[in-house]
Amino acid sequence: MRVFSGIQPTGAKHFGNYSGGFRQYAATQERGEAFFCVVDLHSITVDYDPAALREQTLDLAAMLFATGLDPGRSTVFVQSHVTAHAEAAWLLSAVASYGQLGRMTQFKDKGDGREFVSAGLFTYPVLMAGDILLYQADAVPIGDDQRQHLELARDIAERFNARFGETFREPTGIYPNVGARIMDLQEPTRKMSTTGGTPQGTLLLLDPPDVLRKKIRSAVTDSGSEVRRGDDKPGVTTLIDIMSVATGETPGAIEERYASGGYGPFKADVAEAVVELLAPVQARYAEVRSDAGELERLLAVGARKAR
Ligand code: TYM
Repeated sequence: MRVFSGIQPTGAKHFGNYSGGFRQYAATQERGEAFFCVVDLHSITVDYDPAALREQTLDLAAMLFATGLDPGRSTVFVQSHVTAHAEAAWLLSAVASYGQLGRMTQFKDKGDGREFVSAGLFTYPVLMAGDILLYQADAVPIGDDQRQHLELARDIAERFNARFGETFREPTGIYPNVGARIMDLQEPTRKMSTTGGTPQGTLLLLDPPDVLRKKIRSAVTDSGSEVRRGDDKPGVTTLIDIMSVATGETPGAIEERYASGGYGPFKADVAEAVVELLAPVQARYAEVRSDAGELERLLAVGARKAR
């Protein structure tokens, strides 16, 4: 089985990225031949600083290794180091539907209210389709917010195959059972995100333990004091999901344990679970990130394999 996924280097990585991204990457690398790409070409579709982007590319590579990718097993590389990605985006744009691109919710969200909206932001999902199709990926581990983009990639493959003969494999998305869409702790009707969420409601993977605790303690909870999931309880549902992702327990087991205990002790335990999960990740990150030369070497090896 071929596995492919990509993640953007810009913006601090958060618990949503861990849930839909990093932890799934580490798990799927065991299941086949896996490629993980730092998608810097995607990040240039909105305003960015070139020097900062280079540093963030190394930051993200370090986080990929710190969360469990094994360079001996997985091919980890930078998108701009493999020119086929940009080429594929142009070639595939000829079989991508303009109408369908206009319906992408991420384009509408990210473009809304901006003074300058680049054409690249609009054609971004075609580049993503190219990323996936070039590697003949069967499986694409992602969070729920990438579902529509993956559908578009499948449509592009199908249209290309129908027009020119069987060429591309049609990829399937792999979504976590719990935590496919982690919500903001302050505004639990919005997804956790460094661009669309609130800073206090976003758990960063590199937040110090006390910051994590404070953010979780001040998370919005809903009326009533029952610890259970439900559409009427988006805040508590988010905390249960986060605890489930952090500990590997099912949401049901968590609900049972805290059913009548009230929010206070529950939140304190969620915080400790997250701190316990992230402490070793942060330690590994610091170690890996301190050797930029080694990171660059690993990425060069990855790019060679990917090419
Ligand atoms: P990106 O960089 O925004 O996010 C990386 C991964 O994190 C997941 N994610 C979440 N999962 C659960 N809850 C959340 N709140 C949350 N926020 C983010 C995303 O679903 C993603 O899996 N377009 C992609 C990058 C990309 C890509 C690809 C992915 C480019 N080419 C090819 C797969 C295959 C993106 O911007 O992800």
